[in-house]
Amino acid sequence: MTQPAAVTFIETDLEQITQATGRVAVIITPDGKMDAAARRVNRLTKGALKRLIESDSWADMKSAQVKTLAWPVGMEAEALDVVCLPRSASSEEARKAGVALGKLKSDAACLILAGQVRRAMDLVLGLRLRSYAFSAHKTAKQKENAAITAMVADPQEVQDDATAQDAICEGVFMTRDLVSEPANHLTTTEFANRIAAMEDLGLKITILEEDELQKLGMNLLLSVGYGSASPSKVAVMEWNGGTKDEAPLALVGKGVVFDTGGISLKPAAGMEEMTMDMGGAGVVTGVMHTLARRNARANVVGLVGLVENMPSDRATRPGDVVTSMKGDTVEIINTDAEGRLVLADVLWYAQKTYKPSGVINLATLTGAIIIGLGHEKAGVFSNNDKLCNTFLRAADNEGEGAWRMPLDQVYDDMLKSRIADMKNVGGRAAGSITAGQFLQRYVEDDMPWIHLDIAGVASVSSDTPYAPKGASGWGVMALNRLVADQYEAD
Ligand code: BES
Ligand code: MN
Ligand code: ZN
Repeated sequence: MTQPAAVTFIETDLEQITQATGRVAVIITPDGKMDAAARRVNRLTKGALKRLIESDSWADMKSAQVKTLAWPVGMEAEALDVVCLPRSASSEEARKAGVALGKLKSDAACLILAGQVRRAMDLVLGLRLRSYAFSAHKTAKQKENAAITAMVADPQEVQDDATAQDAICEGVFMTRDLVSEPANHLTTTEFANRIAAMEDLGLKITILEEDELQKLGMNLLLSVGYGSASPSKVAVMEWNGGTKDEAPLALVGKGVVFDTGGISLKPAAGMEEMTMDMGGAGVVTGVMHTLARRNARANVVGLVGLVENMPSDRATRPGDVVTSMKGDTVEIINTDAEGRLVLADVLWYAQKTYKPSGVINLATLTGAIIIGLGHEKAGVFSNNDKLCNTFLRAADNEGEGAWRMPLDQVYDDMLKSRIADMKNVGGRAAGSITAGQFLQRYVEDDMPWIHLDIAGVASVSSDTPYAPKGASGWGVMALNRLVADQYEAD
């Protein structure tokens, strides 16, 4: 797994600033106020900071921006990164400032003089999250993320937060690694193996193989994998950090390790992107890692359906009718609408087996959600206003874009089939909503449920707020926050 940069929090020590090699980051407020560390740097550099503050270029600086002074006189450092940030910075601004530091793409060690900043933790989080690169398949030896040292007023005070932050960064990086990994490497078996290895964190892991899935009647899920040489699997990760009798929150993820479309084959252009079609399962796995790593006091069960959608002589045909675990029949009009088939059976299995208090599923489900919301926000569908609003707030607090979409009987009607209980597609119109309606048929009536369509946000071809282009890890922080705020005992 790609390791986040290690961070050490130490007490502010003005003497040490002179000797620090690598990069030194100093924080100045937009109106030019310097803390003790900044004043020390200013003296060492013979007034360089003061001249910067008085320059026109500082007047143009916005909060969370960084200006670099190279090879500053009077210091051992190779660069002095001057961060513009108000004392009362919001956590979002502080993270943005950290991201700006992360964008400088340096291999050098980094000393952050964060003493006076309320949001030192957020600044460090932004820096760590932005400093990610997927280099598993580069043969040239890659440099590891350089260590970060943060000087703060009271290192003792940030210790708990620091552990939680390690857990978050690791979870996000795990998701990004899984989403980035090509499908010839991340087969269903390899994915299950990586999940099984999480037993070391104290998670209870169960891998259901094809014969068991057959016995359970998960034919919708199995029908997606018929064409592939890789066996279909369902992996279950149980974290029991809460009280014994408390019903768990269930997280369910679509794990299509590659989506060719099957017999309803996708066009060649851009098909390579479908290596990220296990993004939902990737987020569920990353969140479970985070919860275990920070010893969350909640019961959460993560379930992922791992399959590969390939065309072959054994593949499901358009027009085939398949019976779900729930017992109803689906006419598979389009084998490229496979994610909902996988999720339907896993959703049903999750509710029957774990009797959860709520269910949240994540999936790179529809291209249509990208037409609707672009790459900025995930589509949120829910049958429960309370759970939905709580999630939207958590996502907003973590800077992960999310927007609620409607569900309604009129959309469900579009799934009517002539020969079976339903079709797996509803036509071009409202494509993301009819996909959501399909899933809702596998959610029990009174079960609080959210469906997150992350097709637009799981992997993005330009930089996102906290990640370089590529896999974003969207959702790990929002779900971790939701668990922390709503499901953990005080
Ligand atoms: N995995 C795709 C959705 C997708 C598209 C994810 C683009 C990420 C980027 C999904 O399985 C799919 O193929 N959906 C079809 C549904 C259609 C056949 C009803 C789609 O969106 O075109
Ligand atoms: Mn598809
Ligand atoms: Zn798909």
